[in-house]
Amino acid sequence: MVDKILAAVDIGSSKIATIVGVKDKDSEELRIIGFHSTPSKGIKKGLIVDIDEITMAVEESVEKTERMAGQKINQVFVSVGGPHISSINSHGVVAVSNPQGEIIEDDINRAVEAARAISISNTRQIIEVLPREYVVDGQAGIKNPLGMTGIRLEVDTHIITASQTNLKNLDRCLSELGLNNNGFIFSALASAEAVLTETEKELGVVLVDIGGGKTDLCLYVEGALSYSASIAVGAKHITNDIAVGLRVSLQSAEKIKLHLNKILKDRKVSQKKENDLNLNSLNLPENVSDVSLKHLSDGIIAPRLEEIFKLLADVIEKSGFADQAPSGFVLSGGGAMTVGMIEVGRKTLGMPIRVGSPTRVTGLVDELLNPQYATTVGLLLYGRSSSTNEEGWKNFNRILKDITFTNSIGKVKEFIKQFIP
Ligand SMILES: Nc1ncnc2c1ncn2[C@@H]1O[C@H](COP(=O)(O)OP(=O)(O)OP(=O)(O)O)[C@@H](O)[C@H]1O
Ligand SMILES: [Mg+2]
Repeated sequence: MVDKILAAVDIGSSKIATIVGVKDKDSEELRIIGFHSTPSKGIKKGLIVDIDEITMAVEESVEKTERMAGQKINQVFVSVGGPHISSINSHGVVAVSNPQGEIIEDDINRAVEAARAISISNTRQIIEVLPREYVVDGQAGIKNPLGMTGIRLEVDTHIITASQTNLKNLDRCLSELGLNNNGFIFSALASAEAVLTETEKELGVVLVDIGGGKTDLCLYVEGALSYSASIAVGAKHITNDIAVGLRVSLQSAEKIKLHLNKILKDRKVSQKKENDLNLNSLNLPENVSDVSLKHLSDGIIAPRLEEIFKLLADVIEKSGFADQAPSGFVLSGGGAMTVGMIEVGRKTLGMPIRVGSPTRVTGLVDELLNPQYATTVGLLLYGRSSSTNEEGWKNFNRILKDITFTNSIGKVKEFIKQFIP
């Protein structure tokens, strides 16, 4: 069998990153053969605000990746996130078609179908339906009922919805570039696939992806995705605070923020508390000679981090799963590398926190094994696991897209038949 090529575009508020990997049928890992990241334009807090600008940025990123990989990219998985994302858990019940026989794929599909029959506004679109657990004749906690015997099959699903206008705009941008959309994947779900361990998911954990313009999160309980949300605060807010606090431009503030991270990483533990900060090497147009490390990290950055963690704590509290995530928080996204993130997080939340980098990929990965590219790598990993047919489509998304747009049960059945062997 020929190794299959998979591609994805991570459309963020700070960068557009395209990635191409080869699916090796004998290995769990994906081999990366192409990657390129370019500053993004035309997108704010996960929403497209200028379709021409974003199309040009995606075109540049895809073309450069194609050149690196020596492969034409025809179809891509696409990240979607931001405060327009919301989630709901829904229950479905069906009678098993053959009570004497085993539960077959069709029964499972019908149960999931029943669960996703929720009423949503016509401005929203379902992008994900994930079974959390099955119940067969009252016995709960079943992960895979295929082959079991029963009369009544129930399923608990987690459903993620997004703004239809935004998805249509993303689709327009892709079709303008001649790219087929293999499926939208929620950014935090992609990041979770790249950085979380199975043990963390089983114990209960929150994945928080702190991007430039927004922070997406996914909460796992007993191995199942149980809550998804997003808040409109990201690492660009920290840059803003530095710009205001030190009276410098946004460009200078971004340089200072990244420099701070670099010098503290290079310092030995015994030197960490030293207060000297030499910003001369940055050659900024402004005078920043009297800025102290303490003022920058404790006076400007830490209060914003505290605010972000308090907002996250509120969101988790509202989810109803707050006490079911003892593994704590795993942070990804470029913002996860902000100075003081772990210390302020632990103090504010009183939970274990770690920063997660992508795993399970080989090949051209030096630059990619960084929290900033968790979503990018996760798109390929999640896309691979959710696409079982030859073309690599993200099956459920295709089915659900069809439902949302046509509302025709006949068409849905046709669609489902395609995926049943
Ligand atoms: N080493 C670092 N230290 C501190 N901050 C960093 C570092 N590297 C990147 N960042 C910050 O991370 C942010 C970008 O993160 P990321 O690339 O995950 O965003 P994005 O995916 O484009 O945006 P979003 O997901 O919000 O749409 C920027 O604000 C940048 O300043
Ligand atoms: Mg992102």
